Amino acid sequence: MATVVVVGAQWGDEGKGKVIDYLAKDSDIVARYQGGNNAGHTVVVGEEKYVLHLIPCGILRPDKKCIIGNGVVLSLKALFEEIDHLRQRGIYVGDNLSISDRTHLIMPYHILLESVDESIRGAKKIGTTGKGIGPVYMDKAGRSGIRVGDLLDCGVFEEKLDFNLNEKARILGESEEWIESTKAEILKEYQVYADRIKPFVADTSLILNEAIKAGKNVLCESAQGTLLDVDFGTYPYITSNNPTAGGVCTGLGIGPTAIDRVLGVVKAYVTRVGEGPFPTEFPPDMSERIRLRGEEFGATTGRPRRCGWFDAVIVRYAARINGFKSIALTKLDILDEVDPIKICTEYKYNGKRLTEFPSQSDILKDCEPVYESMDGWLTDVSEIERYDDLPENAKKYIERISQLSGIKVELVAVGARRDRIITVK
Ligand code: GDP
Ligand code: IMO
Ligand code: MG
Repeated sequence: MATVVVVGAQWGDEGKGKVIDYLAKDSDIVARYQGGNNAGHTVVVGEEKYVLHLIPCGILRPDKKCIIGNGVVLSLKALFEEIDHLRQRGIYVGDNLSISDRTHLIMPYHILLESVDESIRGAKKIGTTGKGIGPVYMDKAGRSGIRVGDLLDCGVFEEKLDFNLNEKARILGESEEWIESTKAEILKEYQVYADRIKPFVADTSLILNEAIKAGKNVLCESAQGTLLDVDFGTYPYITSNNPTAGGVCTGLGIGPTAIDRVLGVVKAYVTRVGEGPFPTEFPPDMSERIRLRGEEFGATTGRPRRCGWFDAVIVRYAARINGFKSIALTKLDILDEVDPIKICTEYKYNGKRLTEFPSQSDILKDCEPVYESMDGWLTDVSEIERYDDLPENAKKYIERISQLSGIKVELVAVGARRDRIITVK
């Protein structure tokens, strides 16, 4: 009987999918509260690997209810492709999924606008996933967005589409003909989506609040991570919303008093996709080694992820911003062959010690990590099932992470498969 929030502590891809799938077994509802199909959450069940972009990971467990909250931005093309794909693989998607009528729609012009924006930025590009995330959240904040509820009313949808196409044509320097042809294409495509989405649409805030009142267990699923947060991330190299725990309330329509616990998902090293500063980034040869061993390639774009040493400054910061009660440490097994292992404890900036994560990316890019070194365990941990059976040096590494972050490590993942997770006593 609790509402638990699961948040990524670093730059995304921490293994949230795996941890959410694990926790979902004891939950009634799994609810996504922000982001869109820029996310890629991997769950491995036996020999089957699922990568979920929009639908909460709870969908893989029968009898769980899944919610796409109002804070999410929805590509309808991606949504129905994902539903079709899951159904083809024998996963039930029907009355176990509800989508908020307040959810904003990613339109084809958002993707176009994003590619123009990235090319204008040139060398200073963000390195986005190209899914239209920035532009759709701009329209949401700019009060011209189109929501799921609008799609269900032909007249309203067409009126809002007209307004947006005229505005986007002005920005893009496009003609009347472009407006007319784009409008015709969208109306045709979106009529089909409107019919398909109708059974899923609901006031999801109401569903969630009633469930919480009835004592159900609710798991709130974040996408991305703390350092991609629009307020607390490495601005401007961020995504355009709040993956941090604060986003849960606005992204689902539940009050802060409904939240019982926040769990941080922390990778045993650090990865990042896209541009932006990364103090503990490995030199290319080590990055390549960990990338291959950890299969660090984007679950959405396939891009190689940048890799680096564990950074305690980041996790302390994430613990503060999100209010972590505990940590799930993932991918410990990927460090099995690394010796020694380095941990960044603080930064040096302009010759001075810096123990708190800076707000400015321009400062972060000149921060030099201060490392301590630990002996590796040089043992395969991927089959270990009990915390006590982990090698001493692995336990020391986990304990040091806990000490430096000021947060208890509750779970340790030692493999991609569903059952490869250890509870720390
Ligand atoms: P998410 O976006 O946070 O859900 O993470 P991703 O799915 O994008 O990336 C995490 C990757 O690591 C996926 O390929 C997972 O299957 C895998 N993974 C998660 N936990 C572990 C672990 O403990 N060990 C190993 N070897 N792989 C893991
Ligand atoms: P999950 O949920 C890792 C990154 C992009 C880029 C920046 C902005 O799988 O952890 P966007 O398309 O959101 O405007 O891109 O954010 N990014 C992610 N990196 N994991 C993700 O999601 C990400 N979603 C966006 O690479 O640097
Ligand atoms: Mg991912």
